[in-house]
Amino acid sequence: MRDENLRICIIGAGFVGMKHAAAYGASKRAKLQVACDSNFDAASRMAESCGFERIECNWEKAVTAEDVDIVCICVPNHMHFKIAYAALQAGKAVVSEKPLGMNSKESEELAALAEARMAKTSCCYNLVYVPAIQYVKRLIDRGELGELVCFRGCYDNDRLADPNGLFEWRMEKKHAEGGSICDLGLNIIAVSQYLFGDIVSVAAITDIIHGKRADRNGTLYDVENDDIAQFIYTYRNGGMGYISCNRVAPGSKQDMKFEIQFTKGAVRFCLERMNEIQVFRIGQSGYEIVKSDDSGWFNVGYEELKTIDAEHFLSCVSENGTVAVDFDFAAKVDKTIEAVLEAAERSAWVTIK
Ligand SMILES: NC(=O)c1ccc[n+]([C@@H]2O[C@H](COP(=O)([O-])OP(=O)(O)OC[C@H]3O[C@@H](n4cnc5c(N)ncnc54)[C@H](O)[C@@H]3O)[C@@H](O)[C@H]2O)c1
Repeated sequence: MRDENLRICIIGAGFVGMKHAAAYGASKRAKLQVACDSNFDAASRMAESCGFERIECNWEKAVTAEDVDIVCICVPNHMHFKIAYAALQAGKAVVSEKPLGMNSKESEELAALAEARMAKTSCCYNLVYVPAIQYVKRLIDRGELGELVCFRGCYDNDRLADPNGLFEWRMEKKHAEGGSICDLGLNIIAVSQYLFGDIVSVAAITDIIHGKRADRNGTLYDVENDDIAQFIYTYRNGGMGYISCNRVAPGSKQDMKFEIQFTKGAVRFCLERMNEIQVFRIGQSGYEIVKSDDSGWFNVGYEELKTIDAEHFLSCVSENGTVAVDFDFAAKVDKTIEAVLEAAERSAWVTIK
């Protein structure tokens, strides 16, 4: 693998593809090479605004191209598997937007292929790179707060709260395995598994609040994926958790927060104030607010998380480092998503093997 000017191909020039282009474009280690989208106008817009070398509308040509080192997959969820598979087969380093697969079988197959090919991979669970969350990780690793008792988190958003909002690919099963759990919940699952390891049993409820939506032409569709999901669970290493996510929550923007109770203290975090963390140690009179500052990053926002993620991945590719959230990690998140959907469907506890 080249150790400078790693050549980037971004597949999917929608909302998140543009964020990847900005993040990789900002790095001295990267060169924006191929802007790929099946929609020529979208590919052109991304190429022109971010300064790519060339445009491609066929993803199969893009992932096998000689002039590409890293493929970033930013298309709807049902496409992740086949693009990642082809890119790994072609010897590329691969970044996939989340969730990695449509189910854990797909993501485990990708993780196994990546391992066999010794490929660097990453799935975009950007929240683990929040400096305040990295600070919590260090507190946990040093055992300063004792044993985990309970992780309690939620992620709510109001982007789809308007019942007259248009039908989108994320609402149907053939394009996304789940709804709020795949848009929002998985981010907090990833943070919780990053901090505390595997989740092993789950009980859940989900619901669809706005059951029908129309597309731009007025054609009415059934919404098949959950608008809201809630679940309780246990960790393999001890401790329990509760996670709630709602993508039709009026007034909520990036309303992700968690509280973790340990035997010797507690922490509280809210993404809307992502540069601080509240820490309580037994003996204090109340929570202490710590302003986070990690490895030179400070006052970060959503876009900077993409930049931190991109820099981390580029350094792992060029210096053979270990990616914090690789395809193996992503497969474990997919197992939890699958268990949540199954537990809700069967109204029963589901064990994750
Ligand atoms: N990590 C994050 O912060 C974050 C945020 C939003 C979305 N996402 C994830 O990113 C992915 C994309 O979401 P989005 O909101 O950007 O979607 P989007 O609908 O805005 O963009 C998707 C793009 O993919 C293109 N596309 C579709 N099929 C294609 C194909 N066969 N070949 C090439 N291009 C194709 C579309 O033309 C479109 O431009 C999803 O998996 C989503 O879950 C992640």
